Amino acid sequence: MLEKYLNRIVKGDSLSVLKDIPSNTIDAVITDPPYCSGGRSISQKQQQTTRKYENDYQGRPDFVGDAKDSRSWMMWCGLWIAECERVLKPGGYFLSFCDWRQLPTATDAIQIGGISWRGIISWNKGLGSRAPHKGYFRHQCEFIVWGTKGPCIPKENGPFPGCFEYHVCQTDKFHIAGKPTPLMEELVEIVPEGGIVLDPFVGSGTTCLAAKRRGRRYIGIEKMEEYYKIAQKRIANK
Ligand SMILES: C[S@@+](CC[C@H](N)C(=O)[O-])C[C@H]1O[C@@H](n2cnc3c(N)ncnc32)[C@H](O)[C@@H]1O
Repeated sequence: MLEKYLNRIVKGDSLSVLKDIPSNTIDAVITDPPYCSGGRSISQKQQQTTRKYENDYQGRPDFVGDAKDSRSWMMWCGLWIAECERVLKPGGYFLSFCDWRQLPTATDAIQIGGISWRGIISWNKGLGSRAPHKGYFRHQCEFIVWGTKGPCIPKENGPFPGCFEYHVCQTDKFHIAGKPTPLMEELVEIVPEGGIVLDPFVGSGTTCLAAKRRGRRYIGIEKMEEYYKIAQKRIANK
């Protein structure tokens, strides 16, 4: 049952694909769902992501699932996180990216999904980060809400850093919301070599690529054909 998914990107809706993954088989879920945080009004939220995130567009394809309001986003996160909780091994890690706007909702969603919430890791993107004008503090950090399935088991190679600094490098960015590969390479090291990392919102495949480079196994899920192909290509070229 699990073998058919190992070291593969699956094209489909994460909620349905997750339901087919056997329980208690995954060492870590490390993921980056659509934040649904761009735009205030309904019409702004429902714009294409290439328009909402103009600064990050730079010719990259649009992506889906980014138009939910805060309450429906929390409800939806609760559903897929509950599936992640089921497939995780006891003590398995759950890590999910979010930005400052969705941070309070994300910390509720992880608990609704049945994960034992244990903290927030910050990703410092550096002084190149956006600020609307000179009166602002820069939106310099994104966050990783993390927890475990039940008790957190002590590790030989821990404790792990609670803060990471990686600047966004355009030549290493293949998705409007792409994460730096070196950051993801550090994160996948929380599981032992050969361990299984699952990313239900794979985008351009950065988590799976990082897992492959660091000798971990992976399962990725992506709904959009275009990003599914980009992820496949990146991983094949490693
Ligand atoms: C924020 S992006 C992930 C970016 C990724 N971390 C990277 O470095 O490229 C989220 C991805 O989830 C996909 N997505 C949205 N809803 C989905 C769903 N229900 N099932 C599977 N994938 C979905 C989007 O198409 C998008 O590519």
